[in-house]
Amino acid sequence: MGAIDISGIKKAFSVFDTEPELIYLDSASTALVPRCVSGRVFDYLRYQHANSGRGQYRLAESATRLVRDARSAAARFIGAESADTLAFCSSATEGINMVASGWLSERLKPGQNVVISAAEHHANLLPWQKVCKQASAQLRVVDLNAHGQVDLNHLKALVDDNTVLLAMSQVSNVLGVINDVSAWAAIAHKVGARLLVDASQAVAHVPASVASWACDFYVFSGHKLYAGPGCAVLYVCKAAQTEFKPTRLGGGIVTEVDWQQASFIQGIEVYEAGSPNIAAIVALHAAIDFIDSIGWQKILEHERVLISYLLGKLNSLDFVQPLLSWDISASDVGVGENTKAELPVLISFTCQGLHSHDLASLLNAENIALRAGLHCAQPLHKQLNVSNSSRVSLGLYNNKEDMDLFIKALSRAYELLAVVNEPVGMVNE
Ligand SMILES: Cc1ncc(COP(=O)(O)O)c(C=O)c1O
Repeated sequence: MGAIDISGIKKAFSVFDTEPELIYLDSASTALVPRCVSGRVFDYLRYQHANSGRGQYRLAESATRLVRDARSAAARFIGAESADTLAFCSSATEGINMVASGWLSERLKPGQNVVISAAEHHANLLPWQKVCKQASAQLRVVDLNAHGQVDLNHLKALVDDNTVLLAMSQVSNVLGVINDVSAWAAIAHKVGARLLVDASQAVAHVPASVASWACDFYVFSGHKLYAGPGCAVLYVCKAAQTEFKPTRLGGGIVTEVDWQQASFIQGIEVYEAGSPNIAAIVALHAAIDFIDSIGWQKILEHERVLISYLLGKLNSLDFVQPLLSWDISASDVGVGENTKAELPVLISFTCQGLHSHDLASLLNAENIALRAGLHCAQPLHKQLNVSNSSRVSLGLYNNKEDMDLFIKALSRAYELLAVVNEPVGMVNE
């Protein structure tokens, strides 16, 4: 694929052929799929489909190669030491559950603890909750600092010799701030704990370097990276693989089986029993090629310009209360200090007198798609003392015009509902 020009990138997404007015601000839920990805999947299904890892004939061998090449591409993309540290699964949720039942539940003892942050999505909370309860272990929750990042001092205070795992999202799906993963790894490894990074919201916005960050587990879903649904990546460092049991058992993962027992293959494919979702794996590979063809530098610049523009506009609306306040002039890019206000990759906010669901319905009438409610992060909303929020999350296809139209529609919605919600008798005064 040749280099892609980001300014005309909307044309690369076929949904805009049929929905030219669509302003899609929900990429944190799922990113739209570029035509080069859907086209590659279509071609695979039409001309190349066979099962992988099972057949000796030409089509099956080619399917095996497609999976192998996708694994290598994904390993390079996230900076893994080698392709045999990456297992394909169906979603980040499945990957996290695999680690909870195949790794954590095998070792967690009464009195030990798992540490998460206050900003976790339910997918990176409920599996740990369950295993901790079963083992009579503690689930400890780290506070966030004023910038919405994990508070490293509190993290250091919570982690002790009984900590088995730190499981935290690199970027919260509500607050959008980027955290310093390598600082977490250092804290975890000092006490012999392992680190799982939920990169669901980071993978499309932060170039990954899992080996140099020293993650033990790193997980993301392809659909947040322009690949469409059905394929996720679970990185498991070599050392953790020796401790991690496969949770899904079946075809393709054994060396020998008899009626009462089985012995298993060595290596990452032991976590991939059953026929893989090759179409989704092909899509992930195509999405990685798409990102590569644009280049991280242009992506980061594009997103930085857009998010600062949007923050500036939102800051000027006095009826909008962002869940985190941002002084754009003081913001900086780059992670590591835990003291700087780095730009977020998405923004959640409340509007005075306006429920997020009402706002989302009004915006929908203007072809604007944004997320409303609790974003699968109820405990964080409770902690922030907000009953619900609206979330704008950006993708490569967004531009300043989208931001302007969104801000105008937001102001109109507020004016409309402010009048409706005004106490009776006040309207004509
Ligand atoms: C931070 C975070 N973690 C985990 C998930 C779960 O991802 P999936 O639904 O693809 O399994 C999401 C989804 O929005 C998320 O935002």
